[in-house]
Amino acid sequence: MRVLSGIQPTGRFHLGNYFGAIRQYIELQKHGSQDNGQAFYFIADLHALTTIRDAEELKQHTQDAALDLLALGLDPEKATLYRQSDVPEVTELTWLLMTVTQMSLLEKCVSYKDKIAKGLAADAGLFTYPVLMAADILAYDSNLVPVGQDQIQHLEVTRDIAQRFNHIYKSEVFVLPKGHVLQATSKVPGTDGEKMSKSYGNTIEIFERPKKLRKKFMSIKTDSTGVEDPKDPEACSVFTLYKLFANDEDQAALAERYRAGGMGYGEAKQTLYEKALDYFGEARERREKLEGDLNEVEEILQAGAEKARTKAREVLNRARDACGLRPRSS
Ligand code: ADP
Ligand code: TRP
Repeated sequence: MRVLSGIQPTGRFHLGNYFGAIRQYIELQKHGSQDNGQAFYFIADLHALTTIRDAEELKQHTQDAALDLLALGLDPEKATLYRQSDVPEVTELTWLLMTVTQMSLLEKCVSYKDKIAKGLAADAGLFTYPVLMAADILAYDSNLVPVGQDQIQHLEVTRDIAQRFNHIYKSEVFVLPKGHVLQATSKVPGTDGEKMSKSYGNTIEIFERPKKLRKKFMSIKTDSTGVEDPKDPEACSVFTLYKLFANDEDQAALAERYRAGGMGYGEAKQTLYEKALDYFGEARERREKLEGDLNEVEEILQAGAEKARTKAREVLNRARDACGLRPRSS
């Protein structure tokens, strides 16, 4: 079974990205362990071009994404990690798919409509974004695609395009992928209590320097209940975040302290900060080591791209053959 997913390089990842997506990708990589590299994960730098228009920024974000993923436990022995743009077969496949994609299908896409409503310029890249995503998935005969709720519609578009291509060319060129909605840790709260998101400026980055990390935890919005008063843990973002890091016993202990009174929010935040620092302690060490060995990171990405291309060439050839283009020797 091929598990595949992509993540946009939008900067250093935050706790919402980790608990909502990355942790689960890493959990799913085990499906590849017997057959070295069945799980494919890529950094969607071509998709990021629809929003990032600064070369240095894109390079930096792409590198940060690779470092974060590797530090957090993505294991190149089990999963294949690569940059989307290192596989040109995918962009070629995008064109073939584009010719069977109905405009009306893309016009229905909520993420496109949302971005336009927010004032982003409606360029062709943004409009055809789902076709590139379909190529990302179909190029590797992917079976299972773990994504957040917001990407489910794009998966339906992918299935639709694949079915249409197969139908038009009367062949089974493409495997129809299944979506796998990531378990709804759905809303990791940010420092203001709303969903943590880069667009709300309320994020806590996983690998923030300790001093700044503490400051961010300390800035989490709480109510005005006095130190001595009993507090409701379930109504507090500090506790919601603590639950992500702590085992049952530690959660129960902190909940008890909330209810008993006598503990201020500052103390709860300090407890949370220490827990988070400890939770990512090993990952932090791994990241620092990788930062000192960027050549190794580049080698991992290049080796990943080579593996990905081998598979993508095979699928692209099937597609080229089906529509009457000369198949290339693989
Ligand atoms: P952002 O909202 O910061 O731009 P993205 O949309 O790039 O984040 O999110 C990438 C992945 O991380 C998505 O799969 C999404 O489901 C997950 N994610 C982001 N923020 C959260 C959150 N606050 N809670 C749970 N999951 C999240
Ligand atoms: N569009 C996805 C997102 O913003 C990223 C992505 C690109 C992706 N191609 C993909 C996810 C293919 C899964 C499969 O989150």
